[in-house]
Amino acid sequence: MTLGSKNLVCLSNVNLTLSSLAGKVDILKDINLNIDKGETVSVVGPSGAGKSSMMMLMAGLEAATSGQVEIDGHDLGKMDEDALARFRRDAVGIVFQDFHLIPTMTALENVAVPLEFARKPDALKRAQERLEAVGLGHRLDHFPGQLSGGEQQRVALARAFAAEPKILLADEPTGNLDSTTGEMVIELLFKLQKDHDTTLILITHDPRLAAMCNRTITLQDGQLKEETTSSTAKVPTPAVASQG
Ligand SMILES: Nc1ncnc2c1ncn2[C@@H]1O[C@H](COP(=O)(O)OP(=O)(O)OP(=O)(O)O)[C@@H](O)[C@H]1O
Ligand SMILES: [Mg+2]
Repeated sequence: MTLGSKNLVCLSNVNLTLSSLAGKVDILKDINLNIDKGETVSVVGPSGAGKSSMMMLMAGLEAATSGQVEIDGHDLGKMDEDALARFRRDAVGIVFQDFHLIPTMTALENVAVPLEFARKPDALKRAQERLEAVGLGHRLDHFPGQLSGGEQQRVALARAFAAEPKILLADEPTGNLDSTTGEMVIELLFKLQKDHDTTLILITHDPRLAAMCNRTITLQDGQLKEETTSSTAKVPTPAVASQG
């Protein structure tokens, strides 16, 4: 048992500094953040604030310059590339604004990839079920280029949830979609999150979307600025007595 094991995500005094031609850039500054299992957390803040960078740290795709990043009891800073790859395979699902599907693979093959990596039996059969669950049972053999934006993001959602990750990271998942399609994708995202009791971290510029999560954290200039708890996102406890 590790100390932070009651939290799924535990960032302690995390700093991220990257080098650019202009010199070193402090991207994240002294971030402290705990997220429980099953929580939904939105991340908001201006462009360049460090939201995507923080997500890269949580996915083990970028290493903190100092501090500790602990996800599901794994101290990512202590793991080598192979261990990080296994961690990503087993624990993390990611959805990006621009879908990131493999263009040379069909929808079915895209969703089967994480299942095959995880050596699940019947990967193709499971992938088909996942696609049917997002309403794409009739598009199994279509390539990403033959799908609409909303359909591609639904394939990406099916793929991200396929191996039942503990943590789902979504970076502006509706950023490239019109509002109606975006709403459908979000509905699906929260449904899958609930069905699998996945911890969700959702980066968004949409305040309405942010408010659908249990908590909202604001990043500004690489620092955690404020945190609000949503009153609407949590299921209200039934009122015992009426007001007044
Ligand atoms: N490889 C890199 N080298 C140097 N600086 C970088 C690198 N990657 C990102 N940055 C800088 O880090 C800062 C944070 O970038 P990040 O992508 O995390 O912002 P963001 O909050 O996700 O913004 P947006 O809302 O526009 O997506 C930006 O100022 C960016 O220019
Ligand atoms: Mg970003």
